[in-house]
Amino acid sequence: MFVVFEGGDGVGKSTQINQVSRVLTQRGIAHITTREPGGTPPAEAVRRALLYEKDQPWPLWAEVFLLAAARAHHVVHVIRPALDRGDWVLCDRFTESTRAYQYQAYAENPALFDAIVHQATGGLTPDVTFVFLLEEGERLSHRPSHQDDCFESRNAHFQHQVTAHFANLARNPPADYMVLQADQPVAQITQTIVGALLTKHMGRISTPRA
Ligand code: TYD
Repeated sequence: MFVVFEGGDGVGKSTQINQVSRVLTQRGIAHITTREPGGTPPAEAVRRALLYEKDQPWPLWAEVFLLAAARAHHVVHVIRPALDRGDWVLCDRFTESTRAYQYQAYAENPALFDAIVHQATGGLTPDVTFVFLLEEGERLSHRPSHQDDCFESRNAHFQHQVTAHFANLARNPPADYMVLQADQPVAQITQTIVGALLTKHMGRISTPRA
């Protein structure tokens, strides 16, 4: 089962991935945790190149190409093999982040944008996507030594567009998306996520094949 965690910055995704992973381990469910951009050494190198290049920013479409290249590597070398082994994959961000953060590229040329994003995944789509929502301007994570990445340090208009993307999505979520209010107690969110995953898993194994 391919499970993706999405949302703005500082909404508590990483905490939840760790907590959910802990519960799955206790239940003996084989799984891996991973993240985007990143997840393989070359894709992590792309992450560093993208997130911390402040002097000479990447042109908009170059951002999309780099994210797509990193994702293609991650899918082929980590995500697909794990799914083929039968492991669950808990992934911090995937294609919905590209739609949220590279929204200007989408606005310029939606067909090209969708084609690149689709090509990068080889058609792989998450079985479940959890979208973490917070009020605009709110952040849960307090990381004193955290250096803001390029996206976190962009202007208020950019931050607003990202938050608006996830808020719009939450108003009309696609099938297999589940929206979570991120300011609930951590344990409660973990319980909701694990409950939803186990229900989905049971549904899949009890549904007879046509
Ligand atoms: P994240 O790992 O959530 O950063 P942090 O742990 O510092 O909160 O995400 C890294 C950044 O990359 C985040 O600002 C969003 C951005 N990003 C994109 O712009 N497009 C994408 O497709 C992805 C996957 C991430």
